[in-house]
Amino acid sequence: MDRLINQAAEIILDSGLTLALTGAGISVESGIPDFRSADGLWSRFDPAEYATITAFRKDPEKVWRMLREMEQVVSKARPNKAHKGMGELEKMGVLHFIITQNVDNLHQAGGAKNVIEYHGNFSTLSCLWCGKSYLTEDKKGEYVPKCECGRILKPDVIFFGEAIPEDALERSFELAASAQALMVVGTSAVVSPANAIPSIAKQNGARIIEINKEATRLTDTVTDVFIQGMAGEVIPALVEAIKTKV
Ligand code: APR
Repeated sequence: MDRLINQAAEIILDSGLTLALTGAGISVESGIPDFRSADGLWSRFDPAEYATITAFRKDPEKVWRMLREMEQVVSKARPNKAHKGMGELEKMGVLHFIITQNVDNLHQAGGAKNVIEYHGNFSTLSCLWCGKSYLTEDKKGEYVPKCECGRILKPDVIFFGEAIPEDALERSFELAASAQALMVVGTSAVVSPANAIPSIAKQNGARIIEINKEATRLTDTVTDVFIQGMAGEVIPALVEAIKTKV
């Protein structure tokens, strides 16, 4: 692995614009299950029944049961060594933007500032019917939070069937088109449009570094350097390798 870590460190130090695309795998070591591993969230909740905007409109109380279970875990989660290591790379000026599919706010808690949230986040709730929005904090006493208009509120996370926030989509594709290096950490790369980012970057000459506990559909197609391992171990080793070279 050392040889691969060194190769990745060289790529990052040679790059004038380095991005990261992260998925649920980077937060597993913080205690948040990912979605598609054996014991992932979708092995317990069918996404077609719990994670689409149609399902929410049809039975919001049922979806809130899954959301509350997720929130229980997310609220106790703290940034792990991978989040902190990426925050350090940003501080060192060698990682410029993190595009995350996660809604757990752990990159920000781990020190990163330039975080593009592809799938929104849990910190606010909105009413699909009257448009009013609330801070999640202000509604934490309500198991199924309600709007003053009486309807059940939805967290501002992106459900299947909803559009990615326009600014996040535009900014991420723009950056991917001019990136010279892209780190892909802890994502199965099965959900679009986030999974288009590695190929956009690759087509424009970026070198792709993939960090995952197992190979994905990217590994034999767009990945240049595949480092197989837990993000919480690989990222700190990568930070150390970069430090010894600067
Ligand atoms: N270190 C590195 N990689 C890991 C670790 C770890 N400790 N634990 C899991 N992984 C990897 C898994 O091997 C898998 O490839 O992280 C990836 C997680 O994939 P998914 O569970 O599919 O999560 P993600 O790619 O983020 O899903 C994308 O799908 O359901 C939607 O909105 C949801 O944002 C999510 C999107």
